[in-house]
Amino acid sequence: MQHADAIKVTKAERSKRSDIDFSNLSFGKYFTDHMLVADYSNGVWGDPEIVPYAPICFDPSMATLHYGQSIFEGIKAYRMADGTAAIFRPIENLKRFNRSAQRMEMAEVPEHIFMQGMKTLLEVESQWIPKEYDHALYIRPFMFATDEQLGVAPSSRYKFMIICSPVGPFYSAPLRLYVEEQFVRAVPGGVGNAKTSGNYAASLHPTAVAKKRGFDQVLWTDAVEHKYVQECGTMNVFFVIGGRLITPSLNSGTILEGITRDSVIKVAQDMGKIVEEREISVDELAAAYKEGTFTEAFGAGTAATISKITELQYKDFTMSFDSEAMENANEIKAILTAIRDGVAPDPRGWMLHVAG
Ligand code: COI
Repeated sequence: MQHADAIKVTKAERSKRSDIDFSNLSFGKYFTDHMLVADYSNGVWGDPEIVPYAPICFDPSMATLHYGQSIFEGIKAYRMADGTAAIFRPIENLKRFNRSAQRMEMAEVPEHIFMQGMKTLLEVESQWIPKEYDHALYIRPFMFATDEQLGVAPSSRYKFMIICSPVGPFYSAPLRLYVEEQFVRAVPGGVGNAKTSGNYAASLHPTAVAKKRGFDQVLWTDAVEHKYVQECGTMNVFFVIGGRLITPSLNSGTILEGITRDSVIKVAQDMGKIVEEREISVDELAAAYKEGTFTEAFGAGTAATISKITELQYKDFTMSFDSEAMENANEIKAILTAIRDGVAPDPRGWMLHVAG
């Protein structure tokens, strides 16, 4: 496919949009009318196509089902205050997607398929981008291995797809987190910084255990000493200690390189705040809490946006925070929201405008 080629679009016979109550959207439950599909076989990508959203059919031996060569991204498109539509930093998702592909020994997706495919799909689905505060059209690009064979080897065939889902807030209330010291999310040298499905599968049991104990999510610690904070699994984390924002550094390769994380850092620095990306131990958090200098904790992610943390449970020690009084989280969220709404300057060109 050449860059200038238009993507073939086959329209759905009927739109499902009017069946959906946009004032009551659960995350990832409803899907738009169309999806993008592109197939890779023996070293070559075929032309991407936009087709009506529908189930897909596979052979039971399909490699993904057995060995998990599967990666994905999460991106949001927003309806701006002037009625136009724009996608938040999608080029960063393309870069991370292809880093994940490399780590999982999968084919990389060319920029024109990922970006042109997404823009064309968004143009077709523009009526699905919600207008409501804290709502967006969540874009889910993903790719999986489609070889039909049980040998443990990288697939020679892959399917790349993009589906879209209108969404409201991922978390409806501030979170209570359990500091996890038994199970781990990622090990040094593993796949923690790849956005691969298995990372999410592996988090389900520890999260279920935390939920049984009355918490919303786990806060992961490092796999070697269970001492240093990692991330939350659905989002990166930030702490405010003595007025400084601190977030675990990415150096260990065990933490997802969050695009919202990076945006929070840049917005906070623009606001003149001091941001530290470094190792931070749970003991340091507990000591700062006892001193009264640890004042805020919040998560940052595409789905989660900025999600306040109201409680951290570490062994038998509880750290509680007043989510109403989180000045840093509130200010940073307000600026990010204003950029996404098109009512604040966008000096770095984060918003990619799309027609419709
Ligand atoms: C996202 O934030 O886009 C993610 O992929 C996280 C997922 C748990 C919804």
